[in-house]
Amino acid sequence: MPRAHIELDKRAVIAPVRHRTFGAFVEHLGRCVYTGLYEPGHTTANEDGFRMDVVELVRELGSTTVRYPGGNFVSGFRWEDSVGPREARPVRRDLAWHSLESNQVGLDEFARWLKLAGAELMLAVNLGTRGILPALDLLEYANHPSGTALSDLRIANGTLQPHNVRMWCLGNEMDGSWQQGFMTADDYGKIAARTAAAMRMADRNLELVVCGSSGSSLPTFGDWERTVLEHSYEYVDYVSCHAYYQELDGDLGSFLASALDMDFFIDTVVATADHVGHKKRSKKKMQLSFDEWNVWYLKEYQEAAEVSDEWSYAPRLLEDVYTVADAVVVGNLLMTLLRHSDRVTSASLAQLVNVIAPIMTEPGGPAWRQTTFFPFAITSRLASGEVIRPVIEGPAYGTARHGEAPVIDAVATVDDGRAAVFLVNRDLKETARVTIDVRSLASTQITEAVTLADADIYAKNTLADQERVKPAANASAALTDGVLTIELPPVSWTAAALC
Ligand code: AHR
Repeated sequence: MPRAHIELDKRAVIAPVRHRTFGAFVEHLGRCVYTGLYEPGHTTANEDGFRMDVVELVRELGSTTVRYPGGNFVSGFRWEDSVGPREARPVRRDLAWHSLESNQVGLDEFARWLKLAGAELMLAVNLGTRGILPALDLLEYANHPSGTALSDLRIANGTLQPHNVRMWCLGNEMDGSWQQGFMTADDYGKIAARTAAAMRMADRNLELVVCGSSGSSLPTFGDWERTVLEHSYEYVDYVSCHAYYQELDGDLGSFLASALDMDFFIDTVVATADHVGHKKRSKKKMQLSFDEWNVWYLKEYQEAAEVSDEWSYAPRLLEDVYTVADAVVVGNLLMTLLRHSDRVTSASLAQLVNVIAPIMTEPGGPAWRQTTFFPFAITSRLASGEVIRPVIEGPAYGTARHGEAPVIDAVATVDDGRAAVFLVNRDLKETARVTIDVRSLASTQITEAVTLADADIYAKNTLADQERVKPAANASAALTDGVLTIELPPVSWTAAALC
């Protein structure tokens, strides 16, 4: 049995737990919005046509911010199409996902949905096929109180109060050849800087996110961030990071260690941003917005995607069905984001419903939780106060993709007498016994200990079997003389809460 020992010292504070770490992402893609969030005529639909069964699950998931409306979609989007009387909204082709967009859900409806879900809006502007003026117009429509053409248009459309959107993404994945209007780092850095400067003329207090790399394996990774930030450092607050992981070629060991790539990604972007900041003698510390992250079976999607002549509304796209192993990786990636809370102060699980999502729906039918729902929902509920850095002593294993990886990974949070520890066991076969010295936390009781694991690590929740996988109480957890002892099954994710 592998053994590990963890020391928790409440003085080893990394940073506060950031509210926005638990963000998500809604794109007009496939069935995320249409028949995902929005399905007029569904038995649970409200007067706006939003499914309240989905709202309930989103609340349970604990999403704090939602990035919207894309993604690749935003680079062909005309925001004006999606406001005003619904019957007058045009149908457009969405070139990014080769679909038809009815524009029946737009900014005003989505903002109302966010109120139901209890989450903050993070809005992306189109810098792929559009530029500064439409971005400024959208800002005026969204945030100006009244008395101007576009704020009065919003009011005439029925939204009296401004949306007061704080976080704005300056385009999406502008480094990717798949993006409409993709650019060189030099070209994008200039347009992003000019757009950000103009938006700040309207509102100094916006929080602006410039596009970083779409993945750490892109040849431009690092250089892209340096060049873009050399142009835009003064004008922006965040640089974005995007990363998707999957099991490739049956290499489960590497897949389970995906968090090491996320670590490398974050460390590289922090170093690059700090280099630029230092060159500019700036006092500002650039923050990171990890605004797309998840497991995504991208290779299968790319191999299956054929150019079709069909244009359809809300096709079934990217509807990955997640396994227990996927959930362990998602839980571990979220632990990594927490561990970097000093610089990663915003993040978005991509995406929220149906499209590479923790929540699935069937048109006219139920909504259910994928395996990946659980580590996210439990972490967002239990993590609070400050993130502390654990000292972990334990075995490691070799991976083809990420070098040596620890078998056990962990992070902890402490908050005024309460604490939470999040753990993964990456061992493929063996249960690990972990002892955790919590004397510094002065905890005396375990209030909760749950583990997500299964004899079949590829088990999934499906329409036919919606509760096949769920977390179970971990009966091995015991707290004696300031030492928490817990057993972690192979390929598992665990949370323990103490007080
Ligand atoms: O989340 C799916 C897609 O992944 C997004 O549209 C894009 O930004 C990224 O490539």
